[in-house]
Amino acid sequence: MRVLVTGGAGYIGSHTVVQLVAAGHDVVIVDSFVNSSPKALPRIEALTGTPIETHSFDVRDEDKLSLLFAERTFDAVIHFAGLKAVGESSEIPVEYYDNNLGTTFALLRAMKRHGVRTIVFSSSATVYGETTEVPMHEELPTSSTNPYGWTKVMQEQILTDAARADENLHVALLRYFNPVGAHASGTIGEDPQGIPNNLMPFIAQVAVGRREKLQVFGDDYDTPDGTALRDYIHVEDLAAGHVAALEHLKTHPDVRVRAWNLGTGRGSSVLDMVAAFETASGRPLPYEIAARRPGDLAVCYADPSRAEAELGWRAQRTIEQMCADTWRWQSENPQGYDSAD
Ligand code: NAD
Ligand code: WQD
Repeated sequence: MRVLVTGGAGYIGSHTVVQLVAAGHDVVIVDSFVNSSPKALPRIEALTGTPIETHSFDVRDEDKLSLLFAERTFDAVIHFAGLKAVGESSEIPVEYYDNNLGTTFALLRAMKRHGVRTIVFSSSATVYGETTEVPMHEELPTSSTNPYGWTKVMQEQILTDAARADENLHVALLRYFNPVGAHASGTIGEDPQGIPNNLMPFIAQVAVGRREKLQVFGDDYDTPDGTALRDYIHVEDLAAGHVAALEHLKTHPDVRVRAWNLGTGRGSSVLDMVAAFETASGRPLPYEIAARRPGDLAVCYADPSRAEAELGWRAQRTIEQMCADTWRWQSENPQGYDSAD
């Protein structure tokens, strides 16, 4: 298949592009580089052993998008492009709604115009909102506590309505839990700009000496060690889930719109992750206990059984592998893609 990958230079997109090419697909990337580096591209190409056609523009630019769809015949779209920082989304909500919904509108219009019928969408466990039911399964109601999460709830609704209105459209809503890890080569990985919002990149930057210590947000949750539990999933397992979903939509034309959780089904605590990273890096990881972070759930992990039953996909990698691969990427690229070559 020829697949248009929006946001293909980003963290999850770059790993997925490598696996798509390995699975025999042709890939075209569109990325504005608003939250990624063009320096990722030669590394992706080195891993795939093939040039990857890449277009640098904002997916909301419908003129450029239309031109691209007119010049190339796509069999499917994987839509990663979006803004993703929960805290920032409360500071600049209009930007978040505009970017995340606007890219989806532009894609749906271009797809309709050019007869492209398959889209795999990056959703998130954040759509389960404040639910305390675990493991989280796909039939739980969706809601959010922040603008970023609402953009995901709304994009799911828009894609669902579009699929209901057009019998030719096929939509996969992939709800990621907590993506971490990096490609085993150590050449591509997560490269957040500024202070990382998420646990794993923060830990990695402490380990490599870019930050002094980790703050553990809360040790008084009702969990075995008092710190919050999350379902960390290796980005390589996540990437494989996209290839599986794409192939499933193509071989099951009866599927119009379907949500699948991509998680491991296991919860690990913040202190579990600290311990696993200390082992992976062979370094002590300084941390202090801090107040709970507003809006955090105590426990969040997936019921991944639907993806296993229907997509034949299952997460394979352990938190030890997630930490080892993150450490290889971080230690070999202490400043991310801006590290000296
Ligand atoms: P990322 O920021 O590394 O990748 C997103 C990419 O999209 C970046 O390369 C960015 O430059 C690009 N982009 C953003 N807006 C664009 C636009 N308007 N036009 C063109 N390109 C644009 O993030 P990621 O972690 O790889 O996440 C990918 C997707 O998965 C996002 O939609 C995100 O919301 C979703 N997601 C991420 C996580 C996570 O924890 N990383 C969890 C659940 C869902
Ligand atoms: C994990 C745990 C923190 C940083 C977020 C989004 C979610 C999804 C994935 C996109 C929590 C604790 C963190 C730190 C800490 N993204 N922590 N010190 O909040 O589960 O999910 O990313 O869709 O929508 O909300 O992930 O990595 O931020 O936090 O103690 O410096 O680590 O409190 O318990 P989260 P996270």
